[in-house]
Amino acid sequence: MTSPNSERRASLTDAIVTGLSPWVSTITVQSVLSMVARRAGMRSGKLEESLDPKILEEIVRALSLYVRNSSDLENCRRVLRDVSERRRSAAPSAVEIPITCEQDIVVARTRVRDLARALGFQHTDQIKIATAVSELSRNIYSYAGSGVVSAAPARRERSGIVIRAVDRGPGIRDIDHVLSGNYSSKTGMGLGLRGCKQMMDTFQVVTGAGRGTHVTMEKFT
Ligand SMILES: Nc1ncnc2c1ncn2[C@@H]1O[C@H](COP(=O)(O)OP(=O)(O)OP(=O)(O)O)[C@@H](O)[C@H]1O
Ligand SMILES: [Mg+2]
Repeated sequence: MTSPNSERRASLTDAIVTGLSPWVSTITVQSVLSMVARRAGMRSGKLEESLDPKILEEIVRALSLYVRNSSDLENCRRVLRDVSERRRSAAPSAVEIPITCEQDIVVARTRVRDLARALGFQHTDQIKIATAVSELSRNIYSYAGSGVVSAAPARRERSGIVIRAVDRGPGIRDIDHVLSGNYSSKTGMGLGLRGCKQMMDTFQVVTGAGRGTHVTMEKFT
């Protein structure tokens, strides 16, 4: 019997091969997985990172060529769901990164991206999320000196991520102007916050002179 830890260490492919072994051979599962990955435009290794519901159904569809009996196919689907659920619950559920020095910007970017990947975001969305986190972390470091960036699964009907960036710095005097597109920055391009708003699905800033800055943004898979 495998312990929870050894199971966590085992690759997703191994877990799928083992789970489906009553119905299909190892070689069949491997070729199905690489075909599905190729069709989805992923490197095969990308399947190791996430098994979102769409990919899962693609795998079932490809398996139906080999597993003719519909109740066997349903069992395969159940195994795939179980494996992907266990993978998700093994993933970090939330991250919190204090920003006090420049290196923390990279730490925040990397850790939030890892969480986004574990939550099932595709590559381009992972990049958008990581970029938005970099912008907010850099603003904290540059304008407030220190603060905290955190990320967690969004608590909504839709699956997604919620990111908060909080500091007790000087605040932003005219946030509407900054977001209007007519703002010209003395210190940068003046595009950071506006860019975050465009890259994410929801974006709110609570700030004001002397009030610190509290940004909340969400993106959905
Ligand atoms: N956390 C913060 N605390 C205080 N002021 C901030 C904070 N974040 C942003 N600001 C102010 O809001 C302005 C706009 O920020 P934004 O990130 O959009 O552009 P920028 O930092 O000037 O340039 P860029 O991010 O494109 O390099 C900044 O110039 C700064 O004056
Ligand atoms: Mg900025």
